[in-house]
Amino acid sequence: MSQLEGRRITLGVTGSIAAYKAADLTSQLIKLGAEVQVVMTRGAAQFITPMTLQVLSRRPVASDLWAEGQGTAPGHIEVADTTDLLLVAPLSANVLAEFAHGLAPDFLTSVYLAYRGPVLLCPAMNGKMWSHPATRANLESLRGRGHAVVEPAEGMLACGYEGVGKLAPVEEIVARVLAILG
Ligand SMILES: Cc1cc2nc3c(=O)[nH]c(=O)nc-3n(C[C@H](O)[C@H](O)[C@H](O)COP(=O)(O)O)c2cc1C
Repeated sequence: MSQLEGRRITLGVTGSIAAYKAADLTSQLIKLGAEVQVVMTRGAAQFITPMTLQVLSRRPVASDLWAEGQGTAPGHIEVADTTDLLLVAPLSANVLAEFAHGLAPDFLTSVYLAYRGPVLLCPAMNGKMWSHPATRANLESLRGRGHAVVEPAEGMLACGYEGVGKLAPVEEIVARVLAILG
């Protein structure tokens, strides 16, 4: 299977309990032939280690804006300039808001602002965070920019609530990636 051979995907992973699912997602994209540059936020690193995603993606994970040029990972402009798809899964309420408002305090949000290609957003959060008017307005703003969204699923959430907010199944996310890039 090489439907994504040579396609360069930047996978943003943010501070959601669903961050561990980014490991499976990375693995599936690599198996399809994609080059995957993982970018983790500080919140993401509370839920999954960079080592896991580095090994699965076969390249250093980018996370520290201020370490650019010191390590082996590329800088944020280089990542933005060499990406065919910016995929963010899971997307936290906080980073969703930062994207919507054009804030760029870290590596991932700086890549977002410097990038001009297709964007696929996969939010995951508590159902009340998801239905909050601030999140709804931020999401509409991002849709208005033409970004694709894989809506979260309904079910038992990690926080114990039943509702909408679970990260969509990894297979559904991969199918959307293939539809955009395949
Ligand atoms: C146990 C735990 C689980 C969390 N799960 C989520 C989540 O699924 N989605 C979300 O948007 N925020 C979640 N949060 C809150 C975010 O981690 C928090 O807003 C953080 O600042 C976001 O970091 P980021 O900007 O790196 O994404 C969770 C927090 C904790 C402590």
